[in-house]
Amino acid sequence: MDTQKIDSSLKFADGHTMPNQGLGVYKMTEERELIDSVKVAYDAGYRLFDTAQMYGNEAAVGKAIKELSVPRNEIFVTTKVAEANQGYDKVIASVEESLKKLQLDYVDLLLVHWPIHQHFFETWKAFEALKEQGLTKSIGTSNYGMVHLEYLATKANEMPVLNQLEVHPYLSQEAMINFDRKNHIVTQAWAPLGRGRIFEDPAILKIAKHHGKSAAQIILRWHLQRGDSFIPKSVHPERIKQNADIYDFKLTDEEMAWVDALNKNTRISQEPEMVYEIGHQYPHH
Ligand SMILES: NC(=O)c1ccc[n+]([C@@H]2O[C@H](COP(=O)([O-])OP(=O)(O)OC[C@H]3O[C@@H](n4cnc5c(N)ncnc54)[C@H](OP(=O)(O)O)[C@@H]3O)[C@@H](O)[C@H]2O)c1
Repeated sequence: MDTQKIDSSLKFADGHTMPNQGLGVYKMTEERELIDSVKVAYDAGYRLFDTAQMYGNEAAVGKAIKELSVPRNEIFVTTKVAEANQGYDKVIASVEESLKKLQLDYVDLLLVHWPIHQHFFETWKAFEALKEQGLTKSIGTSNYGMVHLEYLATKANEMPVLNQLEVHPYLSQEAMINFDRKNHIVTQAWAPLGRGRIFEDPAILKIAKHHGKSAAQIILRWHLQRGDSFIPKSVHPERIKQNADIYDFKLTDEEMAWVDALNKNTRISQEPEMVYEIGHQYPHH
């Protein structure tokens, strides 16, 4: 049965728990704006905050958390190791630096931001060591395809408990999500709103009208009912609140199928296989 709010008890294979919904902070570069957004989100029930070394805002996230002034175990913080910081020693040093910026003793979840073939296993070894040392509670991946996860399994002592992927109605990732599920890996959707490119879709608008909800709320409710975690980003208080106000209605099976049918397998961002080959993200539109 649905609760009326964000559910903080999504269980990982390693025994830790995570909220099903969080706030993404990519492109929040204004410190005050980020701090205010985290505060509004916290008041609206968000407990999970998703940053990355690459976003250049870990220090601002640290200040925002400090200003919340809540017990550490009430919030869940994710950061991600950038491609340039992969390799055993660099991972360890860069995560120590991230923790300093975040003003935290540990993060709840540490992700490899993108798979790259250089240092592929070394990076993961460092992740396992950081978990062992208590500098992160859980370890996971981002943008890993099946082949990357299967390759990782050949040498890993522990497998990722979460894989953060680009997922939205135009890139529904059904096969990847089923693969993750079969392997006890939680899928977390990044760009869950398709970065705003799906709001005018007639099917979404029709469903939104029927429920008296916004397009964003319909899309997030679709993620929820599929069983994924999701981390929409907004700097607007009304939108931050609206995005968490999705627990009081339900899409019918037919409406879920309409949204499923919108899949076009189109990406907003990088192709993981390309990043893996060239070792870093590449310029794109
Ligand atoms: N692992 C990875 O490789 C990766 C890559 C990209 C992103 N991420 C993570 O995923 C998070 C979310 O993805 P994202 O930021 O790329 O895209 P997103 O959450 O799908 O979309 C964010 C965009 O939608 C707008 N928006 C949000 N809520 C809205 C609403 N209710 N009504 C109208 N517009 C709304 C936001 O504008 P305003 O802010 O102006 O409201 C922003 O332009 C990121 O912040 C980041 O933490 C991870």
